[in-house]
Amino acid sequence: MTDRPYVLLSCATSMDGYLDDASGQRLLLSNEADLDRVDAVRAGCDAILVGAGTVRRDDPRLVVRSARRRAERVARGLPASPAKVTVTGCGDLDPTARFFTTGDADRIVYCATPAVQKTGERLAGRATVVDAGEPVDPAWLLADLAGRGVDRLMVEGGASVLGQFLTAGLADELHLVLAPFFVGDGRAPRFVGDGTFPWHPGRRARVAETRQIGDVVLVRYALSERCDAT
Ligand SMILES: NC(=O)c1ccc[n+]([C@@H]2O[C@H](COP(=O)([O-])OP(=O)(O)OC[C@H]3O[C@@H](n4cnc5c(N)ncnc54)[C@H](OP(=O)(O)O)[C@@H]3O)[C@@H](O)[C@H]2O)c1
Repeated sequence: MTDRPYVLLSCATSMDGYLDDASGQRLLLSNEADLDRVDAVRAGCDAILVGAGTVRRDDPRLVVRSARRRAERVARGLPASPAKVTVTGCGDLDPTARFFTTGDADRIVYCATPAVQKTGERLAGRATVVDAGEPVDPAWLLADLAGRGVDRLMVEGGASVLGQFLTAGLADELHLVLAPFFVGDGRAPRFVGDGTFPWHPGRRARVAETRQIGDVVLVRYALSERCDAT
């Protein structure tokens, strides 16, 4: 499996497994210390991927926040922040979203074929829009990223994207952060939806690490032999 980048999935959930609530506001599940840990993980990757739903809903910057970590990357001959990657079927992406306007990292949009032309026009000068077929196959996307020099990819959500990488067996490591409260609203997105996962009662995932970070807990699961479980 060396023809695709190392894939690290990262997300935070409530105690009842929600990624968000159903309000219009962004729900803060993590805490400052954990966000700093996430920043360090970002700084160690070549690219960060989120689904178009997360770009629309959360308007994330997806840059390395720490000036020291940005400087260290630059000193190693890397861009200050990893490339930003998203995937869309319909191409409904706002060119003024922070994904496109913050930082100077490369931005790549994997777009389903029927929407490529209009998306390319909408995002001209803001991103490289790649015709990714119909439907977009995560394995193909990973192979394409490998061809662009991405060796280590961080996937930061949302539910749909995380579910696809997990069910396809295209994940090496999962960083799951548990926030100390409940959402309790079935209208909110859960970590993942229904699906057939490679990890089930007959094939349990390996815990590589647990760490308390203030009031949250990080569980690092090794999902492939590529993940160092020590
Ligand atoms: N707690 C956390 O750590 C965390 C992290 C990230 C996100 N979130 C939350 O997760 C929620 C968003 O999750 P979500 O499932 O709605 O969105 P998502 O996974 O971010 O994005 C889903 C969208 O991505 C595109 N997409 C995904 N797979 C595709 C494929 N194979 N081919 C073509 N397009 C594809 C589609 O975009 P189009 O609709 O454009 O076609 C789809 O609607 C938000 O509430 C956000 O706050 C939480």
